[in-house]
Amino acid sequence: MDIEREYKRSLERILTGLDLSGMSKREQAVFIDRLNEQFPRLFALLVDIYGQRYDFFYYLQQLVQTLANGFTKRSNVLKQKDNARLAAPHWYQDENMLGMACYVDLFAGDLKGLQQRIPYLVETGITYLHLMPLYDSPKGDSDGGYAVSDYRKVNDTLGTNKDLEELSKALAEAGISLVLDFVFNHTSDEHPWALAAKAGDQKYQEFYYMFDDKHVPDEYEKHLREIFPQVRRGNFSWDSDSNKWVWTTFNNFQWDLNYTNPAVFNAITDEMLYLANLGCEALRLDALAFIWKEMGTNCENQAKAHSLIQAFNSCLQIAAPAVVFKSEAIVHPDEVLKYIDKQECQLSYNPLLMALIWNTLATRDTHLLTESMQESFEISPDCAWVNYVRCHDDIGWTFDDAVAGQQGVNGYDHRRFLNQFYTGRFEGSFATGVAFGENPSNGDCRVCGSLASLAGLEQGIEQNNATLIEHAVARILMVHSIILSIGGIPLIYSGDELALLNDYSYEQDDSKKHDERWVQRIPVTDADIQASKKKGTPQNRVATGLQTLIGLRKQYSVFGQASTRIINPHQNALFAYQRTAKDGTALLAICNFSEHKQKVSSVTLGLGNGDVWQDLLSPVRVSPAPQELELAPYQVMWLLNSQPV
Ligand code: GLC
Ligand code: GLC
Repeated sequence: MDIEREYKRSLERILTGLDLSGMSKREQAVFIDRLNEQFPRLFALLVDIYGQRYDFFYYLQQLVQTLANGFTKRSNVLKQKDNARLAAPHWYQDENMLGMACYVDLFAGDLKGLQQRIPYLVETGITYLHLMPLYDSPKGDSDGGYAVSDYRKVNDTLGTNKDLEELSKALAEAGISLVLDFVFNHTSDEHPWALAAKAGDQKYQEFYYMFDDKHVPDEYEKHLREIFPQVRRGNFSWDSDSNKWVWTTFNNFQWDLNYTNPAVFNAITDEMLYLANLGCEALRLDALAFIWKEMGTNCENQAKAHSLIQAFNSCLQIAAPAVVFKSEAIVHPDEVLKYIDKQECQLSYNPLLMALIWNTLATRDTHLLTESMQESFEISPDCAWVNYVRCHDDIGWTFDDAVAGQQGVNGYDHRRFLNQFYTGRFEGSFATGVAFGENPSNGDCRVCGSLASLAGLEQGIEQNNATLIEHAVARILMVHSIILSIGGIPLIYSGDELALLNDYSYEQDDSKKHDERWVQRIPVTDADIQASKKKGTPQNRVATGLQTLIGLRKQYSVFGQASTRIINPHQNALFAYQRTAKDGTALLAICNFSEHKQKVSSVTLGLGNGDVWQDLLSPVRVSPAPQELELAPYQVMWLLNSQPV
């Protein structure tokens, strides 16, 4: 096919039938401009995915009308934001950026309560707030809201759509970017599409993967992982209403959408624009690795999954360009990188850094962290990592076995060790965690627990042991120092800034007890916030220590737009990296991952160049003469390069 001729021809035809009557002349011009700019790319992507279908043009035309309608409904304030973001697209690389992720109910009761907590967020320095899914979802177990029954309706336990609108405005006024989940791999089995499919409506049965018998599912199954083997084996569930097997990668009640059907792409685009028009500035692409299935493969990270995400991205560039995508690909490091691109996901979780931070705390050996970051940290200068230490999910040990192998580390054995270390089955471990998703066939599992409990604070407090507590506090601050300085948006998981410990109450709740991830989904009460202000408590040391680090981050532009070089300090327990800004300002960060003091020569770290380096976190000053640096247990140094005096 002559793609250029075809896209021009299609665009002309579409424009003739397009209804732009809801837009002013000026808006029409803006929309048409963006459409003209994006259409070649969007067309090529969709031809790649759906071009073989005889009804391709019908869906293409419908899609463009959907984009026009979405643009028409976008408020003037958001249209201004679109222009501002287009003029300064790298806003998320700023040193001022600081993220937090929270559950509305656990953090503040409901949406109105959350609005009242805005001063707390501002005081903490938050500029990016990811609210866990707040949409209508099944009562009881809804996978923490990740089973969506209606993308356009706020879950009534959290408030109303109006509350969300007001919150969105209030956050914008406070300079906080709202981030929402785009749960587009699946809907709940109570979504109207699923209900229609259950009732036998063929149009909606084609929205999902439904099979009359187990023959085809079994063929797929040969190559698939199991995500929640503790609740259900395999990836398919029997639906007794329609008498069919349904593809359900996660829980039985989460039905995977069928993106081989262009009607699904269009319908989900419409939902996406609804979310964009609520005023969110980033959408978190939930479970994006799973959206395309290909027989004979593991159905993760398929080429067409990338094409689909790029196509969604292109739709946003036309109708709501202020919104960026954040990738939630918790997969092999090489696959994580493939989602990160200005035209795909501008932001991405950094699961490798997260997992290796925990790995290194356990081993006190930084080799794997250093090597892996040297290999995988660098991404496009247009994009940014979202660096985190804990989140609402389990920790999976997603490091690259090949890189581990080069260090003489056997991936399989090492994962077993890490699981044991973090679930209290390894003598001498400081961590208090819980095993998650244990696979009865192969003994595989992942790890759950709050940051503070995994870092040793629970044990320290239980044993009333000052040294253990001191080490735990230092670990918590050190790991935060990394996400605050290594480059990207630091994302704090709500409650971690207050060092909250594991919450075991889920064990008493029938809708939660099978899902250990609830151990780290902890209410943040006013009392917790107050307690963190009481001088001398571990919570207070964490909260104030973090405030110092955050304050410094916001003060120096080298924490914002700058390049990162991972340094090999040739010292087992030390992790080091240098940030260099365009103006030449440099920051060298060094972390001691062990409870013993460590020495390193400043020349090894590249400090012998005659400059003066001042630690932002202590009185240490490295003068032009080479010297040895000494780091206390779990100490962090942030050495800023200033001109010789
Ligand atoms: C993502 C979410 C996780 C959820 C899954 C299914 O991985 O983070 O909590 O269980 O997707 O939606
Ligand atoms: C995610 C990940 C998996 C994670 C799960 C949620 O999509 O792939 O590692 O544990 O879903 O718990």
